[in-house]
Amino acid sequence: MFYRLARSAIFQLDAEKAHDLAIKNLSRFTGTPLDLFYRQHVPDRPVEVMGIKFKNPVGLAAGLDKNGECIDAFGAMGFGFVEVGTVTPRPQPGNEKPRLFRVIPAEGIINRFGFNNLGVDNLVENVKKAKYDGIIGINIGKNKDTPVEKGAEDYLICMEKVYPYAGYITVNISSPNTPGLRALQYGEALDDLLSQLKQKQKALTEKHGKYVPLALKIAPDLEDREITQIAQSLIKNDIDGVIATNTTLDRALIKDMPHCDEAGGLSGRPLQNRSTEVIRRLAEELDGTLPIIGVGGIDSAVSAREKMMAGAQLVQVYSGFIYHGPKLVKDIVTNI
Ligand SMILES: Cc1cc2nc3c(=O)[nH]c(=O)nc-3n(C[C@H](O)[C@H](O)[C@H](O)COP(=O)(O)O)c2cc1C
Repeated sequence: MFYRLARSAIFQLDAEKAHDLAIKNLSRFTGTPLDLFYRQHVPDRPVEVMGIKFKNPVGLAAGLDKNGECIDAFGAMGFGFVEVGTVTPRPQPGNEKPRLFRVIPAEGIINRFGFNNLGVDNLVENVKKAKYDGIIGINIGKNKDTPVEKGAEDYLICMEKVYPYAGYITVNISSPNTPGLRALQYGEALDDLLSQLKQKQKALTEKHGKYVPLALKIAPDLEDREITQIAQSLIKNDIDGVIATNTTLDRALIKDMPHCDEAGGLSGRPLQNRSTEVIRRLAEELDGTLPIIGVGGIDSAVSAREKMMAGAQLVQVYSGFIYHGPKLVKDIVTNI
């Protein structure tokens, strides 16, 4: 009820201004009596995935809290895990504004942020300050001005810095808004990246005396044979998990709707079936060797269950959360 009222006011604002305002207020309200607007009790639904214990299987997807400023607020909403980032080695401003658009009739969002973030060091400081007792995933990427051929170096720098503070680390090679990034999803480039990351993980495990799982986040715009190749590469390199999916370039389901022709990645309801399909294909290929975290268009307990029935062990939400608010988290955790 409160969120519905708040949403009608928030949706009057430009989408990015609304986003910035929400992040600012969430970080200000946490730990004060004002957090009663979003604090809620959700039942325990413990689950162990990638060797980690999650208090429930519903997480916040990457990109909403890019700099890790509101981890405790999302914890108070009942998320079983919070993925922060994408963060890059150096701070960067991202693409020119406007770069965030609501496609309201479809409950969709188009963004072309381009990894705007304050850099990995700032994120680490915020993660260190967080009091949240759930799992914090840290999603890492490469700077726009790092050539794709040298992309692995950026991931290794970030990995080194976030490793002691992360519950798990997500390697994001699937954003459509960093030129050339998605090329890392294919063939030798992927194999090479994953083997370097795995070696780094081994070295960091020894150094810090703890094992932090690595998950790869993939796009929905992949052909079946490409999904097969990715699955083989994940298995070969002993990667701990896969997150499916990021946003799509496909606009078929929002044709003629407001903002349908904006460049960027589309998320929300129009992505729901496609991401479920990718999860299903991945699950067939992986055959239980590593877990899948399902994300894309989840807007209800039923759509979360569909992801799980297709093969996901955990789910994440972003756009559904923007359209439905914290109640969505409680609905899913209660009914999953
Ligand atoms: C505005 C916006 C920014 C995003 N930024 C990131 C990001 O920085 N890193 C990332 O891995 N995914 C990012 N995503 C993708 C989401 O994490 C998620 O994979 C995708 O939106 C599908 O889920 P949804 O339909 O529930 O939104 C972003 C999505 C949106 C809408």
